[in-house]
Amino acid sequence: MRSPQVDRAPREIIATPVVKWVGGKTKLLPELLARMPKTFGRYYEPFIGGAAMFFKLAPERAVIADVNPDLVSLYQSIARDPNAVIKKLAHHREEHDETHYYATREKWNQSHMQWSAAERAATFIYLNKTCFNGLWRVNRSGGFNVPIGRYTDPPICVPDALRAASKVLARADIRHADYATAIDDAKPGDFLYFDPPYDPINATSSFTSYTVGDFGTDEQKALAATAKQLIDRGCKVMLSNNDTPLVRSLYKGLKMDKVKCSRAINSNAAKRGEIDELVITGGY
Ligand SMILES: C[S@@+](CC[C@H](N)C(=O)[O-])C[C@H]1O[C@@H](n2cnc3c(N)ncnc32)[C@H](O)[C@@H]1O
Repeated sequence: MRSPQVDRAPREIIATPVVKWVGGKTKLLPELLARMPKTFGRYYEPFIGGAAMFFKLAPERAVIADVNPDLVSLYQSIARDPNAVIKKLAHHREEHDETHYYATREKWNQSHMQWSAAERAATFIYLNKTCFNGLWRVNRSGGFNVPIGRYTDPPICVPDALRAASKVLARADIRHADYATAIDDAKPGDFLYFDPPYDPINATSSFTSYTVGDFGTDEQKALAATAKQLIDRGCKVMLSNNDTPLVRSLYKGLKMDKVKCSRAINSNAAKRGEIDELVITGGY
């Protein structure tokens, strides 16, 4: 007797971050997932960075945002035309060596704003995957200045992973915006996860000279006010930050759980290790 034919869905590749990002949340994911609301409307993540949480949730309806124009453009490109990005990345994979890395870094700094979106996205991924520590860092004038990393076989072009990421990104509204603007249209029942640049653990009391674009004490205060307004509006809010006196005072009244997180990327090797973070929730 012939066994009945079973319709099997092709094995779906799960989307994961396409770039390494400082403050990436992959390690904290279990703690975040355990504290999510059971149900919600639209998912908002306005400090998207490496998007670890977003890819894990793969929400049907989402708004993601960041102030980094190259990062936002990267996600928009992958959403729109992953094959164009894959084609350009395959070229980088073939050419990859020290000479190609530094020549590409130089070209990026001179003219990337004039390139096609796919070219920019592919070069961003290439430099991110091959640079030292996967640390995307720009200097004060916006130039990317990280040296080549020591990898034997960096995963420069992984087409299936990019196509999986594309499917999830294509369902999202991807905004190049400050977080406060990006969340403007959040409605009651929507869930917003905020993962801002963290309040520094070792800040001295005189830490007040912030350069343009920095996220300092005033910005932490404004974010806390925004979070409370959203909760008053009926939204469900989750935030992560360092466990510091400032953060504890700003979110007094909301639920705060201390969690341990091992940081993979820290410019000071001595500071690598376990750090206390807070996961803050409200509105549910
Ligand atoms: C801690 S990272 C987010 C990490 C991310 N959750 C992950 O898993 O990789 C913070 C991000 O916030 C972005 N950012 C900084 N200031 C911002 C602002 N005012 N509005 C929106 N995004 C901002 C930075 O460009 C950075 O990508």
